[in-house]
Amino acid sequence: MKPRVYLTRPDVARTGIELIEDECELTSWSQSSPVPRDELLRNIVGKDALFCTLSDKIDAEVLDHAGPNLKVVATMSVGYEHIDIAECKKRGIRIGYTPDCLTDATAELTIALLLATTRRLIEANKEVHTGGWSSWSPGWMCGQSIKDSTVGIVGFGRIGQEVAKRIIPFRPKRLIFSNRSERADEAKRIGAQQCTFDELLQDSDFVILTCAATPETKNLINETTLEKMKSNAVLINTSRGTLVDQNDLYEFLKSNRIRAAGLDVTSPEPLPLDSPLLTLTNCIILPHIGSADMDTRMEMSRITACNILAGLKGVKMIAEL
Ligand code: GLV
Ligand code: GLV
Repeated sequence: MKPRVYLTRPDVARTGIELIEDECELTSWSQSSPVPRDELLRNIVGKDALFCTLSDKIDAEVLDHAGPNLKVVATMSVGYEHIDIAECKKRGIRIGYTPDCLTDATAELTIALLLATTRRLIEANKEVHTGGWSSWSPGWMCGQSIKDSTVGIVGFGRIGQEVAKRIIPFRPKRLIFSNRSERADEAKRIGAQQCTFDELLQDSDFVILTCAATPETKNLINETTLEKMKSNAVLINTSRGTLVDQNDLYEFLKSNRIRAAGLDVTSPEPLPLDSPLLTLTNCIILPHIGSADMDTRMEMSRITACNILAGLKGVKMIAEL
């Protein structure tokens, strides 16, 4: 009998689906929206592998429903805080994910969001549409450039380093980063200086969050840390919404105690339409599109499928936790 695989999103790229269908019996949720919890619990029963995304919470309850056949959980994401890793390991379930292939796309999006936020692109574009553009004006829609600024990157992993490389051509005065462990080689190679998180907050004109969501980074940006930032600082988050206390961020943006924020991620997602952040002109919010370029999403689908097949065969995955 072919191994049985459940897919939580039928709209992932065909590359991955075809690879799985060649060797397995694939069933999937039918709609292009996250699978409802009860549907997931019902359909995971007896499956050998699960192809999931970051919208699916994979915890003990899901694993219990799956039963002893489940050998692989593969997520089409680099983030894995939606998966209870300890519970999987306890049951001998292997976990695949998709780092590396989305690093460039996410770094590009980070730069796009940084520029859009500091040069006020969304606000300016809105003025064009609503008749607010009356003439070229010397002091209108002015932002601040990266050139001669201090850029601080929080977390110097794969994505943080690629963001750093892309910042260099904009000629900042200083490029600094903070990271849990020492990153001397990477710092030297890229031309960035490691500092403490506090120093980074105090010195940076741009604070870019690229660190992973962990219990330690929950609400890393809060009243206390926002207080340490410069009043002209711009905050960019392309990691996870849980890194930022959104109520505190709102207060600081509203009273111009920091200049602006660009967020590709929020908590929760989607951000409710009555979120006070949506009333601000100095806050750009994107719907978690860091990895959303076509080639990247195809590669993510392919790697997730390969991870599943490798896990089922008991051989090395492309990327395993
Ligand atoms: C995107 O946020 C991912 O974790 O892949
Ligand atoms: C701006 O468009 C300029 O010519 O200065």
